[in-house]
Amino acid sequence: MTKITITQAAEFIGQEVQIQGWVYNLRSSGSICFLQVRDGSGFMQAIVNKSSVSADVWQTAEKATIESSVILTGQISKHPKKEEYELQVSGIQLVQIAEEYPIGKKEHGPDFLLDQRHLWLRAPSQWAIQRIRNTVINSIYGYLNLNGFTKIDSPILTPNACEGTTELFEINYFDWAKAYLSQSGQLYIEAAIFSLGRVFDFGPVFRAEKSKTRRHLTEFWMMDAEAAFVEHEENMKIQENLICFVIEKVLEQNQKELAILERDLEPLKKIKAPFGRMTHAEAVKKLNQLGSDIKADDDLGADDETLLTQDSAVPIFVEKWPAQIKAFYMKRDESGKVALCDDLIAPEGFGEIIGGSQREDDYQTLLERIKEHKLPLDEFQWYLDLRKYGSVPHSGFGIGLERLVGWICGTHHIRETIPFPRMINRIRP
Ligand code: 4AD
Ligand code: MG
Repeated sequence: MTKITITQAAEFIGQEVQIQGWVYNLRSSGSICFLQVRDGSGFMQAIVNKSSVSADVWQTAEKATIESSVILTGQISKHPKKEEYELQVSGIQLVQIAEEYPIGKKEHGPDFLLDQRHLWLRAPSQWAIQRIRNTVINSIYGYLNLNGFTKIDSPILTPNACEGTTELFEINYFDWAKAYLSQSGQLYIEAAIFSLGRVFDFGPVFRAEKSKTRRHLTEFWMMDAEAAFVEHEENMKIQENLICFVIEKVLEQNQKELAILERDLEPLKKIKAPFGRMTHAEAVKKLNQLGSDIKADDDLGADDETLLTQDSAVPIFVEKWPAQIKAFYMKRDESGKVALCDDLIAPEGFGEIIGGSQREDDYQTLLERIKEHKLPLDEFQWYLDLRKYGSVPHSGFGIGLERLVGWICGTHHIRETIPFPRMINRIRP
């Protein structure tokens, strides 16, 4: 007997096969039993016909419950019109008969579903999101590998902050130090460019900010990329090409998943270079015209991001922000007032998905910035060293994986895009 996965069904029409999986729905008329089966690769209907199976097989089928694990044998047949396949069951083994499943067909609120996250992950929508997340991860690796970037792992336990000290999870590092969970591997991968030229990391990062929005998690996955001899303009080009590559791969590989999520594909198909471009000052001006009360030195709020992109089919780079509201490590333009940085804002109201910048590469200037920001100089000595031994212009950026996946999937709240979300009010399961 050939064991197959549901996605292989098309290659086995008319043949006897074995499929291992779970019953996610079922109904029986008394003489025919329809089992909706999933096996991780896909979904399929299995049909048990009382008149063509042994009494034993029929009785076993009748004992199946929602979420029971099963091993089915039978013949694959094709739907006369659609690209769908069915299993005409001849044998069934119940590996475990599931107890009454807590997630029913009726609508459940988000809190209930999040409490049941360990089970909710099995729902077709959640399956689809995780499959797309997988494509996004692999295509980010794919693009960066094709473009000369080497994956380098940055530490999670760090003695200092990268983005800002108020957002750190602090832990006791034995009895002799405080340590912090990393907010971004950026500073460490900056060190690695002097060895490898172009590098990236990809791992979990932690932010203790008390934001309770649909775009904030306290633990999320970030890809930081960094490249030597790359300046602000080229940095944005890399981001643009990377995002286009990722969207193209998802459209190529995840049609089935996007259909389950009822994602409108038209906006995704329009994601092509060049992306929109405006300075922070231009963005503020436009937002004021659109009715926002944002001021020249303000960060963009979620509503501002949505307003700004409402008429744009492609993401928009908001570049060159007032230096005083951005991180200490960002290089400034000639005026000294503007940071050579960019936030990439996704369309359709999904907000900031990338933050990037050129980095300050002059020792003296960086030293002053660290002092201005009242950062502990001792802890930044190694970072300053990078500006003493072969300093070069360099730039990089960080993508929030869940924000990117949320946009591509059209998921309202990014908590659904990570298997086990951690938020200000949730750490379980
Ligand atoms: O803009 P951020 O804070 O940039 C950095 O951390 C830089 N050090 C990255 C770099 O240059 N290498 O974070 C980068 C991205 C954001 O654009 C956003 O997509 C995501 O990380 N992000 C979050 N995602 C989920 N929950 C949060 N609380 C997030 N904070 C940032
Ligand atoms: Mg940012």
